[in-house]
Amino acid sequence: MVLDAGNMFSSPGLQGQIKAEIALEGMQMMSYSMFNLGYKDFVHGLEFLLYYTDQFTVPTVNANVVYEDTGEHITAPYQIVELDTLKVGFIGVVAKRYQDEIVDYTSDHSRTIKVLDEMTTLQTQIDAIKKEVDLIVVLASVGIKKSITIANEIEGIDVIICSDGEEITENYLYYNGVYIVKAGYDGKYIGNLTLSFDITKKIVDKEYSIVELDSSFPDHEDLESLMDEYHDRLEEIKYELRNIEQKEPDSGWYYVGSFACSTECHNSQVSQWNNTSHAEAFSALIDSDQEYNKECIFCHTTGWGYTGGFIISDDTPEMEGVQCEMCHGAAGEHIETGKVIFKTISESTCKKCHTKENSPDFDYETYYPIIIH
Ligand code: HEC
Ligand code: HEC
Ligand code: HEC
Repeated sequence: MVLDAGNMFSSPGLQGQIKAEIALEGMQMMSYSMFNLGYKDFVHGLEFLLYYTDQFTVPTVNANVVYEDTGEHITAPYQIVELDTLKVGFIGVVAKRYQDEIVDYTSDHSRTIKVLDEMTTLQTQIDAIKKEVDLIVVLASVGIKKSITIANEIEGIDVIICSDGEEITENYLYYNGVYIVKAGYDGKYIGNLTLSFDITKKIVDKEYSIVELDSSFPDHEDLESLMDEYHDRLEEIKYELRNIEQKEPDSGWYYVGSFACSTECHNSQVSQWNNTSHAEAFSALIDSDQEYNKECIFCHTTGWGYTGGFIISDDTPEMEGVQCEMCHGAAGEHIETGKVIFKTISESTCKKCHTKENSPDFDYETYYPIIIH
C-alpha cells in the first residue's frame, strides 16, 4: 500500500491550487491507497479540499477535524482495508496545535471547523474499531515528538506513519510496541516498511528502509506529461501577472532597461555585464519552465512591480535578466537629464536576491570581483 500521512499541498494562491490539483492527480496515477489531511491541505479553503477529495479516487482519512456545530467529520475518520486474511484499520489525525491555521484557512466555508484533541480522538476511534481489525495503523500529521507521545500513551496502535516537519527516520523507531516511521518531506523520499505475520496475525518480521527519490530514478512517462501539463497551466497565471500594479521606484522616476545604457555611454560596463550570468538570469526560469512563476520573477528580472519594469516576458522581454538597474537603481532620471543619481552599492544590494535559500554559497568577497566592471 502507498500511504501519505498529510501535508500534500503547500503554498497558497492560484499557483498553489494548480500544484495541489496536479499533486492529487499524480497520487491517483501512482495508485496511492490513502491519504490523511495535514494542516497544509486546508490552505486553499474547505470548498476546494472537499471538491477535489470528492472527485479523486484516493480515499481520505481524518478523525479529528470536525464541523463545530454538529461534531460531524469532514471526511471518513478511518478506513478498514482487507489485505489477504488481514484486516487493517487506518485512522488519520492532525496536530491540534494547528487549530488556528485550519480555522483560518477554512473560513471560506459557511460552517466553522474545529480540531479535536488528537489523543482523545485516537482513543475513541481505536475503541470503535479494535474488535473488527487485526492491525491498527495511524496516519499522524503531528511530527515525530508527538508521535512518540501517542505511542507511549495510547494502547492498541501497531504502526504510526508520521508527517509534518523535516525529520526523517533512517530506521524505524519503536516505542511501547509501536513502530514509528517518517519518510521526510517535499515528496523527496519514500519510506518502505514491510511487515510479516504469523498464523495468529502477530508481527514476526519487519524491514524498513528510506529511498531517496534522486535523479537516478528515471521519470515515469505519465508523470512527465502530468508535469508538462503543470508547466502549461502555469500560463494561466500569465493574466494575473499582467494585473500587477506598478509603483514608482524607490529611487524615483522609472526603469529604462540596459539597452538605454549601452547605446552610447557605457559600452565597457555593458560588455562586462553581458559576460556575467546576471545577463542570462531569465534563461534559468525558461529552462525550468517557470517563466510565469511569480515566486521566481523578482530576482531573475529587472524592475518587477515598478514603473517601466518587467511585467511578463511576452510583453517586456527587454526587461528579462538581472540588469544594471537592479544594482544601480532605476535610471529614468539619469537618461532624461544626464544627472548622476546613483548610490554606492554595498553587500546589502546583492542580498536582496542572494538570500540564504537561493544562494547558499554567496560570499561578497568572492562574488564581487566576478561582477565588477
Ligand atoms: C530571492 C531571490 C530569488 C528567487 C525568489 C529565486 N531565485 Fe533563482 N537564483 C537566485 C540567485 C541569487 C541565484 C544564483 C545563486 C548562486 O549562484 O549563488 C539563483 C540561481 C538559480 C538557478 C541556477 C542558475 C544556473 O545557471 O545555475 C536556477 C535554475 C534558478 N535560480 C531558478 C529559480 C526558480 C525556478 C525560481 C522560482 C521557483 C527562483 N529561481 C527563485 C535568486 C532567486
Ligand atoms: C550586480 C550588480 C551590478 C550590475 C548588474 C551592474 N553594475 Fe555597474 N557597478 C556595480 C558596482 C558594485 C560598481 C562599483 C561602484 C559602486 O559600488 O557603485 C559599479 C560601477 C559602475 C559604473 C561606474 C564605473 C566607474 O568606473 O566608476 C558604471 C558606469 C556602471 N557600473 C554601469 C553599469 C551598467 C551600464 C550596467 C548594466 C549593463 C551595470 N553597471 C550593471 C554593480 C553592478
Ligand atoms: C535582482 C537580483 C540580484 C541582485 C541584486 C544581485 N544578483 Fe547576483 N545573481 C542573481 C541571479 C538570479 C543569479 C543567477 C543567474 C543565473 O545563473 O541564471 C545571480 C548570479 C550571480 C553570480 C554568478 C554566480 C555563479 O556561481 O554563477 C555572481 C558572481 C553574482 N550574482 C554576484 C552578485 C553581486 C556581487 C551582487 C551585488 C553587488 C549581485 N550579484 C546582485 C540575482 C541578483
